[in-house]
Amino acid sequence: MISEKMQKALNDQINAELFSSYLYLSMAAYFEAENWTGFAGWMKKQSREEYEHAMKFFHYLTEVGSRVTLEALEKPKTSWTSPLEAYEEAHKHELYITKRINDLVTLAQAEKDYATNNFLQWFIDEQVEEVASVDQIVNKFKLVGDNKVALYMLDKELGSRASS
Ligand code: FEO
Repeated sequence: MISEKMQKALNDQINAELFSSYLYLSMAAYFEAENWTGFAGWMKKQSREEYEHAMKFFHYLTEVGSRVTLEALEKPKTSWTSPLEAYEEAHKHELYITKRINDLVTLAQAEKDYATNNFLQWFIDEQVEEVASVDQIVNKFKLVGDNKVALYMLDKELGSRASS
Protein backbone atom coordinates (compact mmCIF):
# COMPACT_ATOMS: atom_id res chain seq x y z
CA MET A 1 0.00 0.00 0.00
CA ILE A 2 1.34 3.42 -0.83
CA SER A 3 0.75 6.57 1.23
CA GLU A 4 -1.95 9.15 0.46
CA LYS A 5 0.79 11.70 -0.20
CA MET A 6 2.53 9.42 -2.71
CA GLN A 7 -0.78 8.59 -4.40
CA LYS A 8 -1.57 12.29 -4.79
CA ALA A 9 1.90 13.04 -6.17
CA LEU A 10 1.60 10.21 -8.73
CA ASN A 11 -1.92 11.31 -9.64
CA ASP A 12 -0.60 14.86 -10.23
CA GLN A 13 2.07 13.42 -12.52
CA ILE A 14 -0.70 12.05 -14.79
CA ASN A 15 -1.75 15.65 -15.33
CA ALA A 16 1.85 16.75 -16.00
CA GLU A 17 2.34 13.97 -18.58
CA LEU A 18 -1.00 14.70 -20.26
CA PHE A 19 -0.08 18.38 -20.37
CA SER A 20 3.22 17.41 -22.03
CA SER A 21 1.20 15.48 -24.62
CA TYR A 22 -1.05 18.50 -25.13
CA LEU A 23 1.88 20.92 -25.39
CA TYR A 24 3.64 18.82 -28.04
CA LEU A 25 0.39 18.41 -29.95
CA SER A 26 0.03 22.19 -29.89
CA MET A 27 3.57 22.48 -31.26
CA ALA A 28 2.58 19.98 -33.97
CA ALA A 29 -0.39 22.19 -34.89
CA TYR A 30 1.93 25.21 -35.11
CA PHE A 31 4.33 23.30 -37.36
CA GLU A 32 1.49 22.04 -39.57
CA ALA A 33 0.29 25.63 -40.01
CA GLU A 34 3.82 26.68 -40.98
CA ASN A 35 4.15 23.76 -43.43
CA TRP A 36 6.94 22.05 -41.47
CA THR A 37 5.41 18.60 -41.81
CA GLY A 38 8.50 16.75 -40.55
CA PHE A 39 8.70 18.74 -37.31
CA ALA A 40 4.92 18.32 -36.96
CA GLY A 41 5.24 14.54 -37.34
CA TRP A 42 8.03 14.43 -34.74
CA MET A 43 5.90 16.38 -32.28
CA LYS A 44 2.85 14.19 -32.88
CA LYS A 45 4.93 11.12 -32.11
CA GLN A 46 6.28 12.82 -28.98
CA SER A 47 2.74 13.71 -27.97
CA ARG A 48 1.68 10.04 -28.26
CA GLU A 49 4.65 8.99 -26.13
CA GLU A 50 3.65 11.45 -23.42
CA TYR A 51 0.14 10.00 -23.42
CA GLU A 52 1.74 6.58 -22.88
CA HIS A 53 3.73 7.99 -19.95
CA ALA A 54 0.50 9.26 -18.40
CA MET A 55 -1.02 5.81 -18.86
CA LYS A 56 1.91 4.13 -17.09
CA PHE A 57 1.09 6.23 -14.00
CA PHE A 58 -2.63 5.50 -14.49
CA HIS A 59 -2.01 1.73 -14.60
CA TYR A 60 0.39 1.78 -11.66
CA LEU A 61 -2.06 3.66 -9.46
CA THR A 62 -4.86 1.30 -10.44
CA GLU A 63 -2.63 -1.68 -9.70
CA VAL A 64 -1.90 -0.47 -6.17
CA GLY A 65 -5.60 0.09 -5.54
CA SER A 66 -5.60 3.88 -5.80
CA ARG A 67 -8.45 5.83 -7.36
CA VAL A 68 -7.22 7.96 -10.30
CA THR A 69 -8.74 11.44 -10.44
CA LEU A 70 -8.26 13.46 -13.60
CA GLU A 71 -7.93 17.22 -13.30
CA ALA A 72 -8.28 20.02 -15.88
CA LEU A 73 -5.41 20.55 -18.28
CA GLU A 74 -3.78 23.95 -18.61
CA LYS A 75 -4.17 25.62 -22.03
CA PRO A 76 -0.89 25.20 -23.91
CA LYS A 77 0.82 27.97 -25.81
CA THR A 78 -0.27 27.94 -29.46
CA SER A 79 2.47 29.68 -31.42
CA TRP A 80 6.20 30.19 -31.42
CA THR A 81 8.44 32.56 -33.35
CA SER A 82 10.50 29.79 -34.96
CA PRO A 83 11.06 26.03 -34.93
CA LEU A 84 14.13 26.67 -32.76
CA GLU A 85 12.05 28.51 -30.16
CA ALA A 86 9.53 25.64 -30.02
CA TYR A 87 12.25 23.02 -29.55
CA GLU A 88 13.98 25.18 -26.94
CA GLU A 89 10.71 25.27 -25.03
CA ALA A 90 10.37 21.49 -25.40
CA HIS A 91 13.88 21.13 -23.93
CA LYS A 92 13.02 23.42 -21.00
CA HIS A 93 9.82 21.47 -20.46
CA GLU A 94 11.67 18.13 -20.36
CA LEU A 95 14.06 19.54 -17.72
CA TYR A 96 11.00 20.52 -15.68
CA ILE A 97 9.54 17.01 -16.03
CA THR A 98 12.90 15.52 -15.01
CA LYS A 99 12.80 17.60 -11.83
CA ARG A 100 9.28 16.36 -11.10
CA ILE A 101 10.33 12.72 -11.58
CA ASN A 102 13.36 13.27 -9.32
CA ASP A 103 11.07 14.75 -6.66
CA LEU A 104 8.81 11.69 -6.91
CA VAL A 105 11.82 9.40 -6.40
CA THR A 106 12.95 11.49 -3.42
CA LEU A 107 9.50 11.12 -1.87
CA ALA A 108 9.31 7.36 -2.55
CA GLN A 109 12.72 6.85 -0.96
CA ALA A 110 11.89 9.03 2.04
CA GLU A 111 8.78 6.92 2.59
CA LYS A 112 10.70 3.67 2.04
CA ASP A 113 8.19 2.93 -0.72
CA TYR A 114 10.35 0.49 -2.64
CA ALA A 115 7.67 -0.54 -5.14
CA THR A 116 7.06 3.04 -6.26
CA ASN A 117 10.78 3.76 -6.27
CA ASN A 118 11.25 0.77 -8.54
CA PHE A 119 8.36 1.81 -10.80
CA LEU A 120 9.89 5.29 -11.20
CA GLN A 121 13.29 4.04 -12.34
CA TRP A 122 12.01 3.58 -15.91
CA PHE A 123 11.13 7.29 -15.96
CA ILE A 124 14.59 8.28 -14.70
CA ASP A 125 16.16 6.54 -17.71
CA GLU A 126 13.49 7.85 -20.08
CA GLN A 127 14.11 11.45 -18.99
CA VAL A 128 17.86 11.16 -19.62
CA GLU A 129 17.05 9.97 -23.14
CA GLU A 130 14.40 12.63 -23.82
CA VAL A 131 16.46 15.56 -22.55
CA ALA A 132 19.47 14.39 -24.60
CA SER A 133 17.44 13.91 -27.77
CA VAL A 134 15.76 17.34 -27.63
CA ASP A 135 19.06 18.98 -26.69
CA GLN A 136 20.66 17.41 -29.77
CA ILE A 137 17.87 18.79 -31.97
CA VAL A 138 18.20 22.30 -30.47
CA ASN A 139 21.92 22.19 -31.29
CA LYS A 140 21.16 21.18 -34.86
CA PHE A 141 18.78 24.13 -35.23
CA LYS A 142 21.51 26.45 -33.94
CA LEU A 143 23.96 25.02 -36.45
CA VAL A 144 21.49 25.41 -39.31
CA GLY A 145 20.52 28.99 -38.39
CA ASP A 146 18.53 30.75 -41.12
CA ASN A 147 19.73 28.49 -43.92
CA LYS A 148 16.43 27.49 -45.58
CA VAL A 149 17.84 24.49 -47.44
CA ALA A 150 19.42 23.08 -44.29
CA LEU A 151 16.16 23.69 -42.38
CA TYR A 152 14.27 21.81 -45.08
CA MET A 153 16.72 18.89 -44.70
CA LEU A 154 16.28 18.92 -40.93
CA ASP A 155 12.51 18.87 -41.36
CA LYS A 156 12.89 15.77 -43.52
CA GLU A 157 15.26 14.14 -41.03
CA LEU A 158 12.98 14.69 -38.04
CA GLY A 159 9.98 13.65 -40.10
CA SER A 160 11.57 10.26 -40.69
CA ARG A 161 11.44 9.62 -36.92
CA ALA A 162 7.68 10.02 -37.00
CA SER A 163 7.25 7.18 -39.46
CA SER A 164 9.78 4.88 -37.74
FE1 FEO B 1 6.98 12.13 -20.12
FE2 FEO B 1 8.80 13.80 -21.92
O1 FEO B 1 8.35 13.29 -20.22
